[in-house]
Amino acid sequence: MRGASTFAAMEQEDKLKKVISHAKEYGFVFPSSEIYDGLGAVYDYGQLGSELKKNIKEYWWKSMVQMNENIVGIDSAIFMHPTTWKASGHVDAFNDPLIDNKDSKKRYRADVLVEDHIEKIRGKIAKEVKKAAKRFGDSFDAEMFQQTNPRVKGYLDKIEVIEARMKRCMEEEDLEDFKQLIIDEDIADPVGGSRNWTDVRQFNLMFSTEMGSTAEGANKIYLRPETAQGIFVNYLNVQKTGRMKLPFGIAQIGKAFRNEIVARQFIFRMREFEQMEMQFFVKPGTEMEWYEHWKQERINWHKSLGIPESEYRFHDHLKMAHYANAAADIEFNFPMGFKELEGIHSRTDFDLKQHEEHSGKKLQYFDPETNESYVPYVVETSIGLDRMFLAMLSYAYQEEKLEDGSERTVLRLPVKLAPYKVAVLPLLKKDGLPEKAREILGGLKHDFMCQYDEKDAIGRRYRRQDAIGTPFAVTVDHQTLEDNTVTIRERDSMQQDRVKIEAVEGIIRDRLKG
Ligand code: GAP
Repeated sequence: MRGASTFAAMEQEDKLKKVISHAKEYGFVFPSSEIYDGLGAVYDYGQLGSELKKNIKEYWWKSMVQMNENIVGIDSAIFMHPTTWKASGHVDAFNDPLIDNKDSKKRYRADVLVEDHIEKIRGKIAKEVKKAAKRFGDSFDAEMFQQTNPRVKGYLDKIEVIEARMKRCMEEEDLEDFKQLIIDEDIADPVGGSRNWTDVRQFNLMFSTEMGSTAEGANKIYLRPETAQGIFVNYLNVQKTGRMKLPFGIAQIGKAFRNEIVARQFIFRMREFEQMEMQFFVKPGTEMEWYEHWKQERINWHKSLGIPESEYRFHDHLKMAHYANAAADIEFNFPMGFKELEGIHSRTDFDLKQHEEHSGKKLQYFDPETNESYVPYVVETSIGLDRMFLAMLSYAYQEEKLEDGSERTVLRLPVKLAPYKVAVLPLLKKDGLPEKAREILGGLKHDFMCQYDEKDAIGRRYRRQDAIGTPFAVTVDHQTLEDNTVTIRERDSMQQDRVKIEAVEGIIRDRLKG
């Protein structure tokens, strides 16, 4: 259904623009403090967006906490003792390489400039392949062509050299050579076209503020850049008070803040965002088993929403963060291409050991089975709530040409996540139909988010509900007054069935269960 009936020509980048304007038009997402022209990479969720976001959170919490006896949830504070961030490595190492253009005064992430440059080279390869495919017709073997065509091979070799050099610059913090790489590759400012660059500097992504009432007594503290540390510092509190036995997990949903240098692509990269994280504490030596387990569990969670498998892929990290011994991303096919949606990391005992060292407090687990004490290893699952929101919205957004030649915009959101589950619509605004519709609404609204709409022709009202992703519309007509039946219209198929009023609740419930 998705492919066949949608506008085939809808370009992906174009789609992102459409999703952004749809999100604004219908009250999903607004730029923050818009009346003051907004604030870079900060967004507000409107009346529909906050419902969608709440439903994503609930679905995650249910599957992680409610469905797992050995996982509990917490809600730790955003502000934490500043030593937390020294111990976690964020004060010293949570940096991005930054470069300014002296002419345009624009600021860039040096690695993003280089990556965009590589993308351009990849674009040249794609052009060569396209040209050759046209020339050779059906017998064309794209893979063989890329391996043998001297021009394409040249491009591929060039990419390899650039990537290796950038990797070295990042790993060894060789910022001088990083700048030289940008100069050698003749990379220009994407906005102004100038090649007049400053040196590359490291830029710490944490926001800081001061706690305390007087300037002398004030302490520099940070807005947390990840929720995970709130879990680590509470690990022993939860283990002891909850009498938790290894392996067990602690989950948390909450705000995180990063002063991203380049924040773009709508809510994909924000400066204030929300994470849904779970740290799973395990016996040392078993972490790889659990890492594989959680990779599988998390991809299953995504698939359980009914979105095709082809929209997801794993990306295993070759270069690990300082704390990890294995890491993978679940990438989603966003309008900008496949990008990270969720990370699964085997974090070893790095964080707990660091906190032991910096706090002087033991964070060990006494294993009653072996009578030994040790610092557990940790497997983390970490998903950005806003990214999940964007994934769902951009997947769901469809423009369709209908059989009668008309068009509709529909949000094919998973039923569980849809802001409203049902709209109740009197066919006419007279003859007692609104009263009957309100009576039905009264019976449904205790269990489901419902909308009542009596304005405009019924066709327009259906379109409005399609556009906000409401899976069911119940229409009350004259027959309803005679035999207590209504029509129930399903969003995706647009099929309408006549059913007893009492059956409506069960139909919605069944779809929600599925
Ligand atoms: N505790 C591990 C951690 O924070 P991360 O890969 O930096 O790992 C985890 O972040 C997830 O948080 C990402 O997969 C992404 O979904 C989300 N995320 C990270 N930075 C973000 C940003 N600036 N805006 C929106 N979401 C972000």
